[in-house]
Amino acid sequence: MAAVRSAVINVMVKAAQRAARSLVRDFGEVEQLQVSRKGPADFVSTADKSAERILREDLQKARPGYSMLLEESGRHAGDDPDNVWLVDPLDGTTNFLHGLPIWSISIALEQKGELTAGVVFNPITDELFWAEKGQGAYLNDRRLRVSGRRQLPDALIATGMPFLGRGDTDPFLEQMRAVLPKVAGVRRWGSAALDLAYVAAGRYEAFWESGLHAWDVAAGIVLVREAGGYVTEIGGGHNPAHAGSILAANPHLHLPLGKILRDAGAT
Ligand code: IPD
Repeated sequence: MAAVRSAVINVMVKAAQRAARSLVRDFGEVEQLQVSRKGPADFVSTADKSAERILREDLQKARPGYSMLLEESGRHAGDDPDNVWLVDPLDGTTNFLHGLPIWSISIALEQKGELTAGVVFNPITDELFWAEKGQGAYLNDRRLRVSGRRQLPDALIATGMPFLGRGDTDPFLEQMRAVLPKVAGVRRWGSAALDLAYVAAGRYEAFWESGLHAWDVAAGIVLVREAGGYVTEIGGGHNPAHAGSILAANPHLHLPLGKILRDAGAT
C-alpha cells in the first residue's frame, strides 16, 4: 500500500525540507572551516538559529496559533495551548560541527499532551522518517517495522553518553558495564532523533539515554511506537518525552534491557 501523507505531515515535511536546504548549504561551509584554528563553532550556531527561524515561520504560517517548544528559542505560547510543535532544528550539533553527516531535523506535534505526529529528516542521506498516530511509520515511502530480534546477544543497541559536564558520568558507566557484556554492540552516533528513527527502522534493537529534552525525542517516539516498538522512561514511567529518561526497543527486548538498566541504577 502506498504511503499517503496527511495534511499535517505535509506541513512538517515541507518545513523540514526548507530548513534542510539552509543546513546543507551551511554544512558544505563547515567542512571547509575544519582547518581554521577556532573551528566553525560560531558559524554552526548561526546555522542552527537560521534553520530554527525557517521552521518557526513555516509552521506558524501553516497552523497559526499552535504553540511551540524550540531548542534554540524556547517556548512560544500560541492562542491554542492544546497543539504544540516540538522542534529541534539540528539534532546532532556536535557531529555537524565536525563535518560528520549524522544529524537531523526533528519536528513533532503534541495534541492535548499526546504525541500524534513526527518527522525526522537527514538530508545528507536523503532519509525522511515520518509517522502519524494510528497511520504507521515510514522511511520515505516504505512502511517501517521494528526489528524482530528476540535475544540480547543478537542486539545492537544505541545510547547517548554524558559530555562536557552534561549528565552524570558514573551512573552512565555503571549502565554500560552492565549492558556491554550482554549485547552484540553498543553505538553512540550523536543524534537521539536518528537513534530513535533507526530503532523504528529495525536497524537498532533499542536505544536508551538520560538527560534528553522533549525536542530531541518527541518525533522519534512517534516513529518507534508506530513501527510497533515500546517507548517508556527507563524506570518504566509513561512520560519519556518530558521526563529526560528514555528506553525505546522492539517488544521482545524492552523488558530485559530495561531490567538490566534498572538493576544498574538507572531510573
Ligand atoms: C544532542 C543529541 C545527542 C545527545 C545529546 C543531545 P543536540 O542533541 O541528540 O545524541 O546525546 O544529549 O543534546 O544538542 O545536538 O540537538
